[in-house]
Amino acid sequence: MEKVRCGMVGGGEGAFIGAVHRTAMAIAANIELVAGTFSSNPEISRRSGAAIGLQPDRVYGSYLEMMERERALPADYRIEAVSIVTPNHLHAPVAIAALRSGFHVICDKPAADSLENALAMADTASSSGKLIAFTHTYTGYPMVKQARAFLAEGEVGAVRRVMVKYTQDWLSRPADIAGNKQAEWRVDPARSGEGGVLGDIGTHAFNLAEYITGERIVSLSAELSALPGRKLDDDCSVLFRLKRGGKGILAASQICVGDANALEISVYCENAGLHWRQEEPNSLRVGRRDRPEEIWTAGANRGYLAKPIRAIQRVPAGHPEGYLEAFANIYSAFAHDVRNGRSAVGDCGYATMDDGIAGMKFVRAACLSNERGSVWTSLDDVTART
Ligand SMILES: NC(=O)c1ccc[n+]([C@@H]2O[C@H](COP(=O)([O-])OP(=O)(O)OC[C@H]3O[C@@H](n4cnc5c(N)ncnc54)[C@H](O)[C@@H]3O)[C@@H](O)[C@H]2O)c1
Repeated sequence: MEKVRCGMVGGGEGAFIGAVHRTAMAIAANIELVAGTFSSNPEISRRSGAAIGLQPDRVYGSYLEMMERERALPADYRIEAVSIVTPNHLHAPVAIAALRSGFHVICDKPAADSLENALAMADTASSSGKLIAFTHTYTGYPMVKQARAFLAEGEVGAVRRVMVKYTQDWLSRPADIAGNKQAEWRVDPARSGEGGVLGDIGTHAFNLAEYITGERIVSLSAELSALPGRKLDDDCSVLFRLKRGGKGILAASQICVGDANALEISVYCENAGLHWRQEEPNSLRVGRRDRPEEIWTAGANRGYLAKPIRAIQRVPAGHPEGYLEAFANIYSAFAHDVRNGRSAVGDCGYATMDDGIAGMKFVRAACLSNERGSVWTSLDDVTART
């Protein structure tokens, strides 16, 4: 398959996730970076493009210039997709410009800075007929897919309770913000959006719970808090209910001292409990009442794993894959669908526009619930502000 040609927006010098996306593209091997606008500062954009070996004439000073100049190139040479790795407030304007220019989009989470902007992205995506995908990294792990498969097969029974926590400590001191490129925009409502930790990692936890259970979260009660002087939440506790009646607890926090990237999920069903931890991603613990505990481990040659789950792994058991490969699995699925003209259906391997909108409804519903004294709030009742 000919590689999908991709242009990046964001991810310049000193950025966090842009380099992860570029590595993921290289591992996926069915998509390649050929152009980019890596910063709002044209000089930094050009330096960043040169540092990764792009042709100087494919490195642009603004994302609108990139769309315009790439569109004018021959069809078999210009970019086909745009990867968005900017702060949240730029996701919608960049995605809309890319879709209108005829390019597919793969965008980091959360979908946008507001529900309204996510809905505008959805409108443009559907009128353009182009794909839009979101990189909820954690659904790219083989053992997360195995957990989802256990539930889909039905033997473990219906979901009774989900406990998902995503805790970090990098914003646990008031002084952590100043001079930190990643922190500065995340605590600014104008660039992060209406949620702080809710949008940043709460949406990952929310998406993971929905992905493994295969169910939408339909209502929630939330309590948010922030260290003094911060305008956005840095710590949140959420009770939630799933569509088919299961209940759950979600905690997301960036002030939990000693935790680096502690995303953990337990899904308790009628006949088994499934447990996965991001910091030890190659095993899935399965607990049952009448049998010894089972530890299911990853590996491309592990015949007990479903075939599509073996197919996304690159090495035999005992050679751990991790974060970069999970990211690559998302890119690979996206590029495969771009090349084959497929639209996002079922478990397509990446988060869809509907998933992105669900995440933005989660953020809005949690903020509304918190403002009203943690009252239960239906996600279906959360609508765009006009
Ligand atoms: N999937 C994940 O696990 C994950 C992890 C981290 C971050 N993210 C998401 O990725 C996005 C970026 O986060 P980050 O931590 O890398 O932020 P960052 O601040 O490190 O990088 C943002 C980059 O965007 C660039 N930028 C800003 N305005 C621009 C413009 N107008 N044109 C071109 N480039 C511009 C900046 O110069 C910078 O290079 C955020 O939406 C964040 O939520 C996702």
